[in-house]
Amino acid sequence: MDPQQRIQELTQRLHHLNNQYYQHDISEVPDQEFDQMLAELQQLEKAHPDLALANSPTQRVGGTITKQFAQAQHRYPMLSLGNTYSEDDLREFDERVQRGLEGAPYTYVCEQKFDGVAMSLGYENGELHQGVTRGDGTRGDVVTANVRTIRTLPLHLRPGAPPEVEVRGEVFMPNSVFNDLNQEREQNGEALLANPRNAASGTLKLQDSAVVAARRLRFYAYSVLTPGRHFASHSESLEAAAAWGLPVSPTWQRCQNLQEVLDYIHEWAQKRFTLPVNTDGIVIKVDNLRQQDQLGLTAKSPRWAIAYKYPTAAARTELLRIEYNVGRTGAVTPVAHLTPVPLAGTIVKRASVHNANQIAALDLRLGDFVFVEKGGEIIPKITGVDLAARPAGAVPIRYPQDCPACGTPLVRPEGEAHYRCPNERACPPQLKARLEHYVSRKALNIDGLGAETVARFFDLGLVATPADIYDLPQRRAELIVLERLGEKSIDNLIAGIEKSKTVPFERVLFGLGIRYVGETVAQKLAQHYRTMAAIMAASAEELAATPEVGGVIADSLALWSQQPENQELVRRLQAAGVAMEVSGEPPRAVSDRLAGLTFVLSGVFENYSREQLQELIQQHGGKITGSISKKLSYLVAGDNMGPAKREKATTLKVPIISETELLALLPI
Ligand code: IVH
Repeated sequence: MDPQQRIQELTQRLHHLNNQYYQHDISEVPDQEFDQMLAELQQLEKAHPDLALANSPTQRVGGTITKQFAQAQHRYPMLSLGNTYSEDDLREFDERVQRGLEGAPYTYVCEQKFDGVAMSLGYENGELHQGVTRGDGTRGDVVTANVRTIRTLPLHLRPGAPPEVEVRGEVFMPNSVFNDLNQEREQNGEALLANPRNAASGTLKLQDSAVVAARRLRFYAYSVLTPGRHFASHSESLEAAAAWGLPVSPTWQRCQNLQEVLDYIHEWAQKRFTLPVNTDGIVIKVDNLRQQDQLGLTAKSPRWAIAYKYPTAAARTELLRIEYNVGRTGAVTPVAHLTPVPLAGTIVKRASVHNANQIAALDLRLGDFVFVEKGGEIIPKITGVDLAARPAGAVPIRYPQDCPACGTPLVRPEGEAHYRCPNERACPPQLKARLEHYVSRKALNIDGLGAETVARFFDLGLVATPADIYDLPQRRAELIVLERLGEKSIDNLIAGIEKSKTVPFERVLFGLGIRYVGETVAQKLAQHYRTMAAIMAASAEELAATPEVGGVIADSLALWSQQPENQELVRRLQAAGVAMEVSGEPPRAVSDRLAGLTFVLSGVFENYSREQLQELIQQHGGKITGSISKKLSYLVAGDNMGPAKREKATTLKVPIISETELLALLPI
């Protein structure tokens, strides 16, 4: 192909992929493919320097900047690393280093390449004062409030740190947290997050730092920058960082030569899967900082470091059958059952195939040999079919039209990827999953009645809805006969059921398993409406105007409230003594200074939490709402408020005030 045309093509494609990746957290192609395209472009540009485009992606460090957060300039640009997939490339890298250092002795440090989000942390006089994302490498988003929620990150350094320190490292979501989060999202009928990196990056951009805190992000430091020469070597700086209290992964190692580097790479090829975080390779750095300076930088990456990427773990195995699971909200998820095959440290027996579209796109057939990969995501996925090995007469997989559990015709709402069984009233796996959810730890947390027991009770016909649980104490004799439960476990069970009546309303609301009403939304609704009756009486529009409750949630909730069987469920639960309202006094009226005024709170506040401000406003007779309209009295703006809100308020001439200005309105 004409090099000029190819350069243009690659440039455009890479710009697009960069934009998707950095702005929208979408990886359209595997990293390896991206790197190959970039390498091809680099080569072409080298061969035809006159054809290179001025804004070539090879000259740039990353994407452009998201507008939502305030931005800050990086004092030293945040570079990226040259990538390689082969040991030969590493030998060449080593030779370049050797030449660059003119024969002087040198050593390396090897580290894991953590697959998260790069973060720069500023500490002044030992205090964390700023967290900035990488952005485009020169300017990033200021996400300090969110970063502060990372519990393993010290807000104050231990003594010994110089007055000005910039710590760089990776923010990540531990795999276990990611799994929990996605499980919860699946149960709530919310879209799943693609992988832990996307989850971490999305979390850092959330407006409500309380939600960020609940996501349990973590951080590993991998570089320390100080004005002036504070350390002689990178390894010394890592040791110092750990001594100051910063989290440094203990996996790094000094390597005397290339052979030791290769040994480290081999050692971690499998061991990396035992770490709490996904890694996608090894970073090799020249240890001595003076030598790093001597080697210097290219336009986008240092000459003193390189990343070795492990090939994506893949395996080939036979597709035995597809099982269709029906979840709590009726969503049907296909799961592929495979002949067990070892992959990335575990034996894989199942893989996800997301949805019907994907089955069709892959043209999957029973008996096919398929390729499974474990990338950033935890559950392996089927990425392709070995067509050469397809048995003659293999029958394409037909996605069921009816619910595999109850036979009701499946529906697929427009714009949704999943088919859904609409028979929420009687479809057994939906009923069972709702019971399991109701008794789960974060909901009613009933001692002596775990998910398994309640599922067994369901199969025995003892319970079908959460309200039936409260009839169990009267059915003691039946339990003894049916389940051969001992006196003691029955006493336990009954005590657990009794205790669940003291569980706060917000957890009961969450426990009802209404689609899209997760833990946080349940909390917000409970705070705002205080009683189940008020929530059920609210229209979809009213619900949508509640802070943190969007239209989709509001519609789902309003629909739920209209169903007679749900009204009956709430009535029975309430009659049994389950909390259907917030306990304690409603916020005490302190004054009527804000009577007749409505407020929207947005962003993160400095002195009070959003809930505290909300309560203050209510105590003084004001009203909180969720959406900006012409009738709104004030928009109270905190840090990190989205630009769309500001724009809307400005257009509608709604006054925007700060936390301090709000407090000034109060008679304190
Ligand atoms: S050093 C100039 N060390 O990889 C060197 N980076 O392409 C700067 N990363 O966005 C980075 N683990 O966030 C370094 N142990 C490690 C790393 C690491 C992950 C990320 C980093 C950066 C990307 C470099």
